[in-house]
Amino acid sequence: KLKIVTIGGGSSYTPELIEGFINRHKELPISEIWLVDILEGKEKLEIVGAMAKRMVKAAGINCSIHLTLDRKEALKGADFVTTQLRVGLLDARILDERIPLSHGMIGQETNGAGGIFKALRTIPVILDIVADMKALCPEAWLINFTNPAGMVTEAVLQYGDWDKVIGLCNIPVNAVFEEADMLGRKPQELFFKFAGINHLHWHTVVDQKGNDLTKELIDVQFGKESDGRSIVANISNNSYLYKQVENLQMVPCPYHRYYYMTDAMLDEELAGFNKNGTRAEKVKQIETELFELYKDPTLDYKPQQLAERGGARYSDAACEIINAIYNDKRTIMTVSTRNNGTITDLPPESAVEVTCLITGDGPLPFNFGSFQPQIRGLLQLMKAMEELTIKAAITGDRGTLLQAFTANPLITSGNSAELVMEELLAAHKPYLPKF
Ligand code: G6P
Ligand code: MN
Ligand code: MN
Repeated sequence: KLKIVTIGGGSSYTPELIEGFINRHKELPISEIWLVDILEGKEKLEIVGAMAKRMVKAAGINCSIHLTLDRKEALKGADFVTTQLRVGLLDARILDERIPLSHGMIGQETNGAGGIFKALRTIPVILDIVADMKALCPEAWLINFTNPAGMVTEAVLQYGDWDKVIGLCNIPVNAVFEEADMLGRKPQELFFKFAGINHLHWHTVVDQKGNDLTKELIDVQFGKESDGRSIVANISNNSYLYKQVENLQMVPCPYHRYYYMTDAMLDEELAGFNKNGTRAEKVKQIETELFELYKDPTLDYKPQQLAERGGARYSDAACEIINAIYNDKRTIMTVSTRNNGTITDLPPESAVEVTCLITGDGPLPFNFGSFQPQIRGLLQLMKAMEELTIKAAITGDRGTLLQAFTANPLITSGNSAELVMEELLAAHKPYLPKF
């Protein structure tokens, strides 16, 4: 008897999750899935919830789907709680993207000023959920996909007094699939070792004989013979300065483009904005189309269009981690978890995103050690920026927040930083009770 609770259950991604559970039902005998949402999400919850029920029925598996707005009722006796909520919905993301851009800075869901504000809105809500879990399901694991997933995980570890938390992202999964293909290999023939923090990790790859293929991967992905493909739908392509990436000696993730190619990214973002508005506006349109499809009472499988979202394949990560913990599978996965000395350049208590063995007792990171200075510098700066952001989210202190803004490489320091910060504070006021 296994009970799963998904908070933010009205998300358009829910069919992705349900499909992942259906595919694993022989190993993972889930008897109840509770989809929880808030009043504003009621309509979406009902539409996607009905779709989830049809999917489970069509698969012929014995699992009940419950839809509720009562989080406490849902959490009672849960084994796994997954969080995929978006505080302020996509309208808040539109502001996170538009306001910095209007000041000539990158506006992005998890990076720059927008990413900081997503953290400020989300962290208090997640800590509330953890408080409920302590009372209602003290043995449960919290599997968080809510962005910024790394900062959310760190906030739970540092301020939530809760160790059973894992942060998840689809980027490492996507990288393994797409990059194995670029190398003309199968994922299971290779060992990818990731280290860093969420949306800012680097990796190496070796084959079964221990040959290091990292340089070859840098060449096929970023060199002359690259076909320019991107490993995620929301970041257009992976072109970098070849010489710069070659000298990193590790493979960067797609989000590094914001830091390594800031000028090109800003140009691209502005051009895209002038044509179609921000990514969040595009996502809103994809969502409207998806919900139209979900309303179809004959649709009982995940529609193809969901792949246009950046989170494609995230159910592989989400469902597999639950499977691995439940069955002590010792699967190798890259997740956000407590550092504990894995990366010696970061504090032991920090959340890091690293390759782990997933046991019945949770993630066991593979030792990494230390980075070369070209990586270490950015990583330590960004971790400090995260710590400041989390502290600001907890305390509501403007001074701390301005320090986070000043540290962030995507935010122009000085008057511009203060201006953007105040504008975002005013725009998001209803979701920032601490400020
Ligand atoms: C990637 C990231 C996710 C992020 C998504 C955005 O997959 O790993 O953390 O939420 O892209 O995609 P979207 O379609 O919402 O722009
Ligand atoms: Mn992610
Ligand atoms: Mn700055």
